Amino acid sequence: MKRIRHDGVVVVGAGLAGLTAALAAEPAKVLLLSGAPLNQGCSSAWAQGGMAAALAADDTPELHAADTVAAGAGLVDPDLARLLAEEGPAAVRALAALGAPFDRAGDGDFAQSLEAAHSRARVARVKGDQAGRAIMEAVTVAVLAARHVEVRTGALLRGLLQDADGRVRGVVVEQDGALAEITARATVLATGGIGGLYAVTTTPAELTGDGLGLAALAGAAIADPEFVQFHPTAIEIGRDPAPLATEALRGEGAVLINAAGERFMAHYHPDAELAPRDVVARAIHAEREAGRGAFLDAREAVGSHFPEEFPAVFAACMGGGVDPRKEPIPVAPACHYHMGGIVTDAEGRTSLPGLFAAGECASTGVHGANRLASNSLLEAAVFGARAGRAAGKAADTATAPLPAVAPPRLPHMALQSLRKAMSRDAGVVRDAAGLARLLATIAALENEHGQAAALVAARLVATCALARAESRGGHWRADATQQAEPRRTFLTLADLEPALKYAAE
Ligand code: SIN
Repeated sequence: MKRIRHDGVVVVGAGLAGLTAALAAEPAKVLLLSGAPLNQGCSSAWAQGGMAAALAADDTPELHAADTVAAGAGLVDPDLARLLAEEGPAAVRALAALGAPFDRAGDGDFAQSLEAAHSRARVARVKGDQAGRAIMEAVTVAVLAARHVEVRTGALLRGLLQDADGRVRGVVVEQDGALAEITARATVLATGGIGGLYAVTTTPAELTGDGLGLAALAGAAIADPEFVQFHPTAIEIGRDPAPLATEALRGEGAVLINAAGERFMAHYHPDAELAPRDVVARAIHAEREAGRGAFLDAREAVGSHFPEEFPAVFAACMGGGVDPRKEPIPVAPACHYHMGGIVTDAEGRTSLPGLFAAGECASTGVHGANRLASNSLLEAAVFGARAGRAAGKAADTATAPLPAVAPPRLPHMALQSLRKAMSRDAGVVRDAAGLARLLATIAALENEHGQAAALVAARLVATCALARAESRGGHWRADATQQAEPRRTFLTLADLEPALKYAAE
């Protein structure tokens, strides 16, 4: 196997967290690895909402932190929520300084939009639904111009290199069909979420939890893997991944109706269309299960302004044969965000020396059981920078890595059956029988194909969802609808051994 010694930091993943970490690691040299071309294959570039930050005169970081804590259903770390909210305004200004063209109000200040579960209008947007794409374009230009960053695309993460003490010493990547070892002073995983483990997802399908699974295989501590956020309004036009109809449409007054044209959200929550995201997702799921269907009707609220105000949603709808100016948009809940991940401190340090994590693959503690809308780009920017700075300062170590291990990859057809099983059994509504069935499916796939990282990630979700016999935030158990005492899940893969045996029986 080819060996490359990189005298600096390796960052894996080129979403907003990875790019921000790469920039922040200066003066350390950074090798930025991405499986896909830049700005493809990452959720950040698809984000429609924007960045939540207390930028308005009537807002404060305290209020933003309080909303973050409330949305997280008892499991947010309040100190980290406070840190996120306090650093939010500077993060938005830093991105604007790089050229991100945030919408401005008449006085030149950032225009602010309202999203569900925010007590203030505090989401900085770009042209309705263009925030992710525009922010990523600006940051990509900065990364490509940065002399300390070398970008390598087409490099798929296949393993982590460790020394005899468990310190992470770099990565194993696959490029052009060949494996290579890259040693580095520090490794930052910014590998995104797990949407590709679900049959219906709003994220790039290649995001199958590989960073999470490989970190778990290396022995890293993992938190809250059972908490998956389902976006209520993925556009149901038979596309995989499913395009998103941003929550901002409901913020603008679009309503949810069933096939009979009746608004239904008031039956589920007093805040109706602006109820917390998990409530809206379950309501849509229930309407669909009952055969009534679910549609987002933006004809009155947006109407003829659709092409200018929400260009991405408009293009997706028209591509699927739905004209949202004239007809309601068919919608379904879809896997959108993973609250759980690799445990980190405020500087992105994981439980394994030499390994850092940032963005969706990390669990900083700010999302709890349910992420507040538009807090994910913010978290990627704030904690990506923190992780990059800390990784850049990591001292060199002379220890030799053990021989590289690259777990098997899950073949395409096996992944498709896993995705179906995850959507069916670890989706918007779960129960013990379905989760046990899912674990048996995962065990059968492992027996046939080995312990692929995607299967490890799926097992973490399923096992912890089965163990959490309560309903909280994004985790709804039809067989345990009450809340127990609030507690986060912390585990390593070794803790799953009894569950592995259980599932194999
Ligand atoms: C949306 O635009 O509805 C998604 C925003 C988010 O997930 O934070």
